[in-house]
Amino acid sequence: MIGKLNHVAIVVPDLEKAKNKYKNILGAVVSDVTDLNDHGVSIVFVELFNTKIELMHPLGADSPIKKFLEKNPTGGMHHICYEVQNIKDSINKLLEDGVKILGDGNPSIGAHGNPVVFLSPKDFDGTLIELEEVNN
Ligand code: CO
Repeated sequence: MIGKLNHVAIVVPDLEKAKNKYKNILGAVVSDVTDLNDHGVSIVFVELFNTKIELMHPLGADSPIKKFLEKNPTGGMHHICYEVQNIKDSINKLLEDGVKILGDGNPSIGAHGNPVVFLSPKDFDGTLIELEEVNN
C-alpha cells in the first residue's frame, strides 16, 4: 500500500531558529516560512535528496498542533507521511483491518494540495501516520 516516505513533520518552538539551524548548521536547502491558514500551521520545507522535512509551528488559536507544542515545549517529531496511489482504496483496506482513521474518516486536502488522512497512533505503535495520495 505505502510507497515513498513523503515527509517527516517536526513541531518546533521557533520556526526561524529551526530553519536557520537546518540551513546553516546542517547545510540543507530550506524554504521561506509559509503560513497555511487553512491548516493552522506555519511551515518551513527542508528539501533533502530522498524526502522532505516539514518544520511546523502553530498558527492561530485553533491550530491542531497547539496542544502538541504545549505538551512538548522544546518541540518534537509529530508525524510521518507515506505516499499511497489511491487513498480511497487504502482507507477501505485499513478499515477492513480494524485501523482507526482520525477525524470523520474521509480524506481532506493536505498541505501539498493532495488528499490525506491520518491514522490513529494507537494502531501504529505510538506514531501518527499521514497517508497522502500522490499520483506520479
Ligand atoms: Co504532513
